[in-house]
Amino acid sequence: MIAMDSQFDVPRLLSSGFVARVEHFAVLDSTQQRAREAATNPFEPLPLLVVADRQTAGRGRGENSWWTGDGNLALSLLFDPAQLGCPRGLPSISLAASVAIIDAITASWDGPSWDTLPRPSSSTSRLGLHWPNDVYAAGRKLGGVLVEALPDGLHILGLGLNTNGRASDAPRELQSRLTTLRDLTGQPHDHTELTLAFLDRLIDCLRMLGANADSLGRRFDELCLQHGQMLTLYQGERATTGRCLGIARDGGLRLETPAGALTFHSGTLQPPRGAVQ
Ligand code: BTN
Repeated sequence: MIAMDSQFDVPRLLSSGFVARVEHFAVLDSTQQRAREAATNPFEPLPLLVVADRQTAGRGRGENSWWTGDGNLALSLLFDPAQLGCPRGLPSISLAASVAIIDAITASWDGPSWDTLPRPSSSTSRLGLHWPNDVYAAGRKLGGVLVEALPDGLHILGLGLNTNGRASDAPRELQSRLTTLRDLTGQPHDHTELTLAFLDRLIDCLRMLGANADSLGRRFDELCLQHGQMLTLYQGERATTGRCLGIARDGGLRLETPAGALTFHSGTLQPPRGAVQ
């Protein structure tokens, strides 16, 4: 664990060999946007990691924006899945990334088990997944993943993780819905360590998607925190409500509906709106 002011050690990120180039910004509108610009350069060495200490216009899934409070982690990875041994365009790449960040948090935290940490509500404190790819702890959102496939097959994987900020610093309407590693553990968390652990695990998980998808698929379901909950899935105008049966091996959401057990591969669990996080 390290002091709050340390954000990213770029030479260390580079020397890990996980990425070919790193761009680090003190302040940036969006790492996702910057990675998109870099993708227009046909000579860009890949994978490219873009990190920012502060984002002023972070983007979330759909029309959502993403709040990156001071001290939180924002990164985007521009990569070619094929170069990393993973088929291009798989919807489960984003779930694989969520598993990777959960494993990275667990590996780089040497404190007590997540299940014993104080929690802000009566819900489970377990660190896990909310379909399609949100990271939750203590019943609140800790992080989110955004994967975009570009027409030439390259992918941009964005990760926003609430690390060293405080939920109380977030816009009022978000405060009760999110948590941060610092709020949960009382400690600052090293962004370089977390990023290295994430990249290490991500490369494994992407390879598993290509070669051993079934065993990674089992992890999706094990980490799913929504088992047994009544969920409503929105797909355009259509809303389907059912009891969550977990996450299928291929990353789909399984719901027990009045029409029987169904698996969904697209949609959102939030009513359509333009909110943040
Ligand atoms: C979500 O909606 O849950 C996904 C949020 C993804 C946010 C990250 S922060 C780093 C990267 N840059 C962005 O503008 N968005 C992603």
